[in-house]
Amino acid sequence: MDYKFEIAKSISSVTELEIDKVLQLIEIPPQVEMGDYAFPCFSLAKTMRKAPQMIATDLVSNDALKLDFLSEVKNVGPYINFFIDRGVYAHSVVSEINEKKDDYGSATLGENKTVVVEFSSPNIAKPFHVGHAFTTILGNSLSKIYTKLGYDVVKMNHLGDYGTQFGKLITAYRLWGDEEALNKAPIDELLRIYVKFHEEEKNNPDLTTDARANFKKLEDGCPEEVALWQKFRDMSLVVFEQLYKRMGVTFDNYNGESFYSSRIPAVVDMLREKNLLEESEGAQVVKLDEYKCPPCIILKSDGTTIYASRDLASAIYRHETYNFDKNIYVVGIPQALHFKQVFSVLKKAGYEWADNCEHVGFGLVKFKNMKFSTRDGNIVLLEDLLNESIAKVKEVITENAKTRGASMTEEEIDEIATKVGIGAVIYTYVKSGRERDIVFSWEDMLDFEGDTAPYLIYTYARTRSILRKALEQGITPAEAGSDSLKLLTSDEEYALVRSLSDFPDSVVKAAQSNEPFMISRQIAVCARNFNRFYNNSSILGADSDELKKARLALCESLCNTLKSGLNLLGINEVERM
Ligand code: ARG
Repeated sequence: MDYKFEIAKSISSVTELEIDKVLQLIEIPPQVEMGDYAFPCFSLAKTMRKAPQMIATDLVSNDALKLDFLSEVKNVGPYINFFIDRGVYAHSVVSEINEKKDDYGSATLGENKTVVVEFSSPNIAKPFHVGHAFTTILGNSLSKIYTKLGYDVVKMNHLGDYGTQFGKLITAYRLWGDEEALNKAPIDELLRIYVKFHEEEKNNPDLTTDARANFKKLEDGCPEEVALWQKFRDMSLVVFEQLYKRMGVTFDNYNGESFYSSRIPAVVDMLREKNLLEESEGAQVVKLDEYKCPPCIILKSDGTTIYASRDLASAIYRHETYNFDKNIYVVGIPQALHFKQVFSVLKKAGYEWADNCEHVGFGLVKFKNMKFSTRDGNIVLLEDLLNESIAKVKEVITENAKTRGASMTEEEIDEIATKVGIGAVIYTYVKSGRERDIVFSWEDMLDFEGDTAPYLIYTYARTRSILRKALEQGITPAEAGSDSLKLLTSDEEYALVRSLSDFPDSVVKAAQSNEPFMISRQIAVCARNFNRFYNNSSILGADSDELKKARLALCESLCNTLKSGLNLLGINEVERM
C-alpha cells in the first residue's frame, strides 16, 4: 500500500488542496518520535484564514484522517504527525515482498515502451580496460533496471570497429603481422603492430599514405581489405565475449560503427536537402551556433566519414528500427560534447525525438596502492582486476572456512570466490553516483564489514543459513498474510521493514536518473538495518513460536530484497559463504 498517498488523499478530502499538492508538502520527520509522516499546515493559513496551529488542531479531530493503518494522528504546533501502526505495516510489507520473492521491485511503469541502452562499445583490436568496464557494468545494470520496470530493452554494443585506424592495422599487419601470435592472443598482437606502426610512421610518411589508401579501400568494399578487417573484428570479439560471459553480460546486437557506414550517404543527402551542410576548410560540416556548440564535421576533406556521422546514422537507425521512447548512451564524460553535437544536429534536422536521446556519462577510474602486472604501461585491464579480486576473496574465504571448521570443497570455494570477487568489482563501480571518479583499493572493496559486495553477499548468505537451520528444526517462516507478522513492531524490526518497503521506489529512481547507485544505497541500508535487528533480537530463540516464525519471514523478506537488488546491479548472490 502507498501510505503516503492514502494520507494525502485523506488530507485532500478535508481541505481545498489537490492530492498532488499535499503529496509535495508531506514530509518525513527527522525523528521517530515525530511520527512517520508529517503535514505542515502553513499553506492552508491563507485560504482558511486561521493560524496554522489552529488548523492543525482542528484537522486532527476530523475522522477522515483516522485511517486504519495509523495508530495515532496528533498535532504538534502547526504540524500534523501521522504514526503508522507498526504491526499493520510490517504485515503488509513482509507479505508483499514474500509473495513477489525476488521479483520484488518490479513494476509495469514501462509497459509498451522501448528503451535502447547502448553500452560497453569497446574498440576492436584494443585492450578492454577498466574504463570499458565502467560502461559495461553501468549499462548492464540499467538494462536490468528498465526491464524490471516493464520496459522493452534493446541492449546495443556500438563496437568501435571502423575508422582510419583500421587502415593502419591493415598496413601494419601486412608488414609485420605474426599469424601465430594473432591466433594465440589476438589483442596483444594487434596492439603490438599498431604501436609499431606509430613508431615507424614518424620516419616513414609512406606508411601514412598507405594506411589512408587501405581505409579508403575498406570503405569501398575491396575484398582483401574487408577480409582482414573481418578477421581482426571476429578475433577481438571472441576475447570480449569471454569477458562478457564472466560478467554475465549479454547484448541484443553488436551493431558497431561499421554497421552504419553504408547508411551514411543517406544521412548526408538528408542534411544536404535540408540545407544544413556547409563547407569549412574542405570538410562538410553542420554549424551549431544556436546550440552553443562547435560545428559538427560530417565528411572529411577526402570524403571519408567520421565518428560523428556514424553516430547520426546509428541514432536514425535506432529510431526507425525500435521507435524508442528513450535512447541512452552509456559513455564516459569526456565525450559529452560529441553527444551534444550529435543530438543538436538531429534536432536541427527536425527530428523531435532527439530530445529522447541521452548521454549517460561517468567518471574516471583510479587506483590506490594497487599494482598489476599489466602488459601495457599504465592501463589496467579488466581481466587483471577480476583475477586479482577473485584470488584475494578466495584467500579470505579459505581462511574463514578454516577458522569456522566448515568443510567446503575446492570447487565450492572457487565458485563462491568467483561470484564474490566479481561482485566486489562491480559494486565498486555502482556504489556511488556515476559521475564521480572511482578509486579502487583492495582494503575498501574487500572489507566484509564495509559498504561492499562481500558485506551484502555475506549478509544474504548468513540469513539464508538461519532459514536453513530453522527448517532443520522444523520451523518455517510465517506465510504471507499471516497475522503473526503483526508482531514485528520493535524499533529494529520497524526500521528494517521501512527500509525494505522503500526498495521499489529506489528502482524507479534509479531508472529516472540512470543511477544504479540509488539501488546499491538502498540495499546497503536494508543490510545495515537487518544486522542491527539480528544483533539485538534472537530469531530462533524468540519467546514464542509465532514470533520466531514472524522473524523468519522478515529474514526471508531481507533475502528477497537483497537478491533482487544485487541482481539488478549485475551481482550474483551465494547461498553459503
Ligand atoms: N568506442 C568508443 C570508445 O571506446 C565508445 C563508443 C561510444 N558510443 C557511441 N555511440 N559513440 O571510446
